[in-house]
Amino acid sequence: MLFFLDSACIAEIEEAKALGILDGVTTNPSLLAKENIPQAAIYDHYKKICAIVDDNVSAEVISTDVTGMLQEAHALAAIDAKIVVKIPMTKSGLQVIHKLQADGIRTNCTLVFSAGQAILAAKAGASYISPFIGRLDDLSTDGSQLIQQLSIIFQKNYFNTQILAASIRHPMHIIQCAQQGVDVITCPLSVIKKMIHHPLTDSGLQTFLADYRAAFPQQAL
Ligand code: E4P
Repeated sequence: MLFFLDSACIAEIEEAKALGILDGVTTNPSLLAKENIPQAAIYDHYKKICAIVDDNVSAEVISTDVTGMLQEAHALAAIDAKIVVKIPMTKSGLQVIHKLQADGIRTNCTLVFSAGQAILAAKAGASYISPFIGRLDDLSTDGSQLIQQLSIIFQKNYFNTQILAASIRHPMHIIQCAQQGVDVITCPLSVIKKMIHHPLTDSGLQTFLADYRAAFPQQAL
């Protein structure tokens, strides 16, 4: 399972990269807006992200019509070969995904909330589909059930599209995705940090060090 960071923050991306677990980055317009950069600097910001990761930087179009999305997608893809263009799951979005596949541009179909949407995006030629599991959970609908359903459907139908589980809110989302054989997860750095810590690891380490110091008081660690 690949790990993407759901962030447009350079410092966070560098921190995740240093952990040795980073396979890519997903951004969205809301995440970009948090970065306080002028609009004219957005493409340069994507360049900086691409310089940190080996591949897979999702950059989302802002247009919603076919012509506008296509124009933006080509401009985004021209920034760096690592860019994957994020296209919303709409009727126009499907047309754009299909055209971009023919042009050899990778796409990430975003805002997927049902198996029907995922099947259409895969058929249209999306490289990735992003089911938003946390936002489904927020509406008292089990997001992990959608992931389970998609894992079965995509395996049985040999779709050439990767499931990229998004809108991840806590470690159990990631563990469930791994159990279900999801191709990729994207999550905030805060969730990765929560996965690192366990109180028994902390107390166990304290005990090991205290025992060592008590037995060998003269030796520096
Ligand atoms: C995915 O690509 C999206 O950027 C993201 O996962 C949305 O997460 P949220 O529901 O926490 O905003």
